[in-house]
Amino acid sequence: MTQQLTIRRPDDWHVHLRDGAVLQGVLPHTARQFARAIVMPNLSPPMTDCAGVAAYRQRIEAALPAGMDFTPLMTLYLTDATDPDEVARGFAEGVFVAAKLYPAHATTGSAHGVTDVANIRAVLERMAAIGMPLLVHGEVTDAHVDIFDREAVFIERTLAPLVRELPELKVVFEHVTTEEAVRFVEGSGPNVAATITPQHLHINRNAMLVGGIRPHMFCLPVAKREKHRLALRAAATSGSAKFFLGTDSAPHAVGAKESACGCAGIFNAPFALESYVAVFEEEGALDRFEAFASLNGPAFYGLPVNEAKVTLEKVAVAVPDQIDANGTQIVPFHAGESLSWRFAG
Ligand code: NCD
Ligand code: ZN
Repeated sequence: MTQQLTIRRPDDWHVHLRDGAVLQGVLPHTARQFARAIVMPNLSPPMTDCAGVAAYRQRIEAALPAGMDFTPLMTLYLTDATDPDEVARGFAEGVFVAAKLYPAHATTGSAHGVTDVANIRAVLERMAAIGMPLLVHGEVTDAHVDIFDREAVFIERTLAPLVRELPELKVVFEHVTTEEAVRFVEGSGPNVAATITPQHLHINRNAMLVGGIRPHMFCLPVAKREKHRLALRAAATSGSAKFFLGTDSAPHAVGAKESACGCAGIFNAPFALESYVAVFEEEGALDRFEAFASLNGPAFYGLPVNEAKVTLEKVAVAVPDQIDANGTQIVPFHAGESLSWRFAG
């Protein structure tokens, strides 16, 4: 008999759905697998106020194919000028469930990000007081810091002091990529958690650079050395409630990736669960997959778990070389590979 794994329907706690025609093309891939997703606000221009976020949510709902059951969980993009009252109002009214801190110029769509966390101190104090989670892109942007060290340096310079000074603030350290980040999250109190992407569980930096430069393996934070990948795999499959699924699926048109200055971001939404479950099987931790994918995230955000169930079955699935996202060609993660588990719905 085919091996099967049935779990509560998962959620994706970090996704880039984009906007316009591409939104329509990529959204069904996320909505097929996930009941809810935390939608990143790094559009151009970014979603920096209640009205903008509410309008973006409506565009997502309008782009959702009929019959698909999916709830976007919206986020606010923090800038140096964010008004604490706007944050509290949007959270109270359910316009957004969290706010995202992008250090200015850290990644795609972060040009309007925060130049110094001291500038948003009043916002963070208000968020701590109302129990609103802060989602952090954890990299310094200092030109003197090597790109492979930017996450570890961010912990020292910014995140550790922040968590020490505002212990009541709920913080999700997004898409962690290093052993240092895993240790930091493990060593912090229950208000600090982290998301982990499929790519950082599967690849190290060699995947990007050995045998030629492979732009489709490039995302931010950039994949690190093998020891970091192993630390992430151990954390994800440990059973700790502090780690949960966040794909960071970040679609870019093939031409924007295969370029002299290629964009950062990996489009993993079409085979996200298949990709994650392979890691849990390899680590002998299939019994812990449901906690990572479906239980730990809602517990941290204070949301109910999903009642519906989904099944994965041990049947090979071929990942196409490219996916047509409503007219935009995008190369998915695992392009051209065969994965050993199939999402059966
Ligand atoms: C993301 C994007 O393209 O929006 N890119 C990425 O490499 N992850 C931005 C981000 O989450 O850093
Ligand atoms: Zn992201």
